[in-house]
Amino acid sequence: MREIADPSTLLEWYDHNARLMPWRVSPQDRRAGVQPDPYRIWLSEVMLQQTTVAAVKEYFVRFTRRWPSVTDLAGAKDADVMGEWAGLGYYARARNLLKCARVIADEYDGIFPNTHAELLTLPGIGPYTAAAVSSIAYDLPETVLDGNVERVMSRLYDIHTPLPTSKPELMELAQALTPQKRAGDYAQAVMDLGATICTPKNPACGLCPWRKPCIGQAAGTHLELPKKLPKKAKPIRKGIAYIAKRVDGAYLLETRPDAGLLGGMLGWPGTDWIEGEPTERPPMKAQWKTLAGEARHTFTHFHLRLVVKTALVPMDRASKAGDFVPLQDFRVSDLPTVMRKVFDLASDAPKIGRMPSARSKTT
Ligand code: ADE
Repeated sequence: MREIADPSTLLEWYDHNARLMPWRVSPQDRRAGVQPDPYRIWLSEVMLQQTTVAAVKEYFVRFTRRWPSVTDLAGAKDADVMGEWAGLGYYARARNLLKCARVIADEYDGIFPNTHAELLTLPGIGPYTAAAVSSIAYDLPETVLDGNVERVMSRLYDIHTPLPTSKPELMELAQALTPQKRAGDYAQAVMDLGATICTPKNPACGLCPWRKPCIGQAAGTHLELPKKLPKKAKPIRKGIAYIAKRVDGAYLLETRPDAGLLGGMLGWPGTDWIEGEPTERPPMKAQWKTLAGEARHTFTHFHLRLVVKTALVPMDRASKAGDFVPLQDFRVSDLPTVMRKVFDLASDAPKIGRMPSARSKTT
């Protein structure tokens, strides 16, 4: 008879192998009575959606230094939060983060609710984040199902139904394993197992605490799992971005409308991004020069190719498209990645090698 997967085997593994993360309370400290801070758990989980732990750490540390509590964050200026988020991608997350912080500060006295149902009513909190906060921060027996957990469950139970069709089944299996006690450590343990042992390629089955009960490993099918429905090919969209630099070094930037892609972020004025050829829409009259090459970036639903045009303009020029940001206030790191790529193309171009280099966040 095959051994049945036991949450305590995984918890024992986690006691010795938990990854260190700036928001995490180690299983040893947890036992000693240290409580995780729901604000830090929520913030980290929102940052971790679609992003790796390695990429998030630095952002998390900067954010929590600047805004140590949810009430501090609630009082922040939108533009400052968007600037700190720049580079993490999926900017609707940052807008919802701020909305959520303000609801918690105004309606909940700065204290995060603990139940899954109440968390779900908050801006930007979906089933995954609600489960992560109520399990990790409050130790309630809720089940997290992210990509790592999906992979672990598919292999453990040898599920061949492709994702996303298999999600409800994987959720049921994951729920059945979730223990009543140490639910927070358990949630983090399954995710760590998926991230470090049960990896998509070359899983370290020899080190896996659930090797014996793993049906996929016994059947030799684990490397094919989870199966996924084929993804639709992404279309290519094109656009033109305009970098206007005033003679004093100020750059013309727009704050993008809240609704829509990169909403609320700073960016270079430009055309719409479309599948055909874009028509010119310069933000002002000037001698625009087209740079060689293009800035390329991939979003969730399309690949983008941007032609970049630059112009040096006199002091008395203004534009309806945006405002000139003085050189001392301009930080490339406040721009979303695609806009940074546009700037990099201009900075690398021989013609405008004279462009003053921008300050980075750390200077
Ligand atoms: N991925 C997302 N959230 C995580 C967490 N709390 N622990 C480990 N991996 C994660």
